[in-house]
Amino acid sequence: MNRIFLITVFLTIKLFLFSQTPCPVIPAPVKATLGKSAFQLNKYTRIYVGTALLKDAAVYLQKELNKKELLPLGLTTASSIPNTIRLTFSKEAMEGDEGYTLRITDQAIHITGNSVGGVVNGISSLLQLIRLQKNNNGTVAIDGWQITDAPRYRWRGFMLDESRHFMGKEKVLQLLDWMAFYKLNRFHWHLTDEPAWRLEIRRYPRLTLVGSAGSFTNPEAPAACYTQQQIAEVVHYAAQRNITVIPEIDMPGHATAANRAYPQYSGGGNAQHPDFTFDPGNEHTYGYLTNILREVNMLFPSGMIHLGGDEVSFGTDQWLKNDGIRKLMEGHSLKDLKAVERYFMERMADSVYGMNAKLLVWDEMAEVNLPKDKTVIFWWRHDKPAQLKMALDRGYDVVVCPRLPFYFDFVQDSAHRMGRKWGKGYSPLKDVYSFNLSALVDAQHQKQVQGLQANLWTETVPNANRMDYLTFPRIAALAEAAWTRDEFKNYDDFTGRLKKQLPLYRDDDIYFYNPFNPSEIPEPVYFRKDKRNLSAQEN
Ligand code: ACM
Repeated sequence: MNRIFLITVFLTIKLFLFSQTPCPVIPAPVKATLGKSAFQLNKYTRIYVGTALLKDAAVYLQKELNKKELLPLGLTTASSIPNTIRLTFSKEAMEGDEGYTLRITDQAIHITGNSVGGVVNGISSLLQLIRLQKNNNGTVAIDGWQITDAPRYRWRGFMLDESRHFMGKEKVLQLLDWMAFYKLNRFHWHLTDEPAWRLEIRRYPRLTLVGSAGSFTNPEAPAACYTQQQIAEVVHYAAQRNITVIPEIDMPGHATAANRAYPQYSGGGNAQHPDFTFDPGNEHTYGYLTNILREVNMLFPSGMIHLGGDEVSFGTDQWLKNDGIRKLMEGHSLKDLKAVERYFMERMADSVYGMNAKLLVWDEMAEVNLPKDKTVIFWWRHDKPAQLKMALDRGYDVVVCPRLPFYFDFVQDSAHRMGRKWGKGYSPLKDVYSFNLSALVDAQHQKQVQGLQANLWTETVPNANRMDYLTFPRIAALAEAAWTRDEFKNYDDFTGRLKKQLPLYRDDDIYFYNPFNPSEIPEPVYFRKDKRNLSAQEN
């Protein structure tokens, strides 16, 4: 009797310990329990693709495992073979577009989702569980996690400004890998601004021939841009990882580079911001910009175009001296320059809607009369909560990305001198993690919040190392803030899981800030391909 009693106690304790083990995945899942049997992943494991619709998701898993674990797994459509990772659609997955279940047994790994995005999210959780294990001579033992999960917000975004400094395709693909690893699903690509225009428009070749030279720190920097072929590649790569790419073509301000290429559409600027605006008083400007947007819309199948609309007043000094604008104001009873801005945006909005795309704009444009169901406002001015409130009261959907804590060009450590601060304000990891909307948005408006986004402006980011240093590890905190419901968030638990991710950053040559050892100076790394070539030459 005694022995049976002791065994029962032992088993109960073991079961309790199993169920208490925190799941290492970032962002923290809704529900995760640890079963007893592990799956042995090896090169004989196959990826079962339940439907052709999941082929791209399977290729994502296949590429990732081959890249890091050096496991070249084959795909199969035969449903009954053992030793498989099974990707299928299922209604049993969590509600919502991107929910998934991940069940790991000693026989198989089952990933189900009620959409492609859900299955990709399940794959990303699996990749984390795999990466945190050792590869023992080609076999990785994966603990028997049973996960049921779904996101809190549908918009989990990251914006990269490549006008100020161009990072290039390889760096962008690496960023997309990390975004997918953390289940971020919107890549907002800021491709045009004052220093340079970075995307090829075939109808207007001077935009890149002339407009893509220079950077924020060096007006003489060689031309650098994305060809339409490269854009298509990035968009496809992102789509395989459940990431939608949204281009931003900023207007009517921040137009300097475009105006260098086609000065006939410039509305002028001032000494600090020369040729900052497009000319709203020139009827041809609207046709020109609409032609550009037509090409943009075909390149980016997201059906969303961000038209900026921010900080226009930084460079409208010439507008009142412009005959065309004065006539426009008289003809349309526009009483001031703000009204001209609104008129411009309403017309360009019509071009976007005419392509059946949604219009995305910064929070200045919350004042413009735009259809609520086709427009999304990005709230960025943390010092102007009234602007967020106005957007919500007027019925717009919003993406929330206030400078503090979501502008990642703000430093993450008070001791850092390079990078932005707001007075003494900056953006430590904890603030990104703990960002709480309930103080800003009442219950009745919560539904209009699409989600959260971090923005990396690159005035102070001249190279890829600097981009990494500002992005990592805050990108992980952003992901958990956007994915995980408040009741499952815990900062201490998060930092415990985050510590285990640092070796993964090192392994990918990420030049990251280490919040657990702030004085650590990462080894300077040049981009991984160069580094590999370099060491190959040295050997
Ligand atoms: C912005 O930071 N100008 C949107």
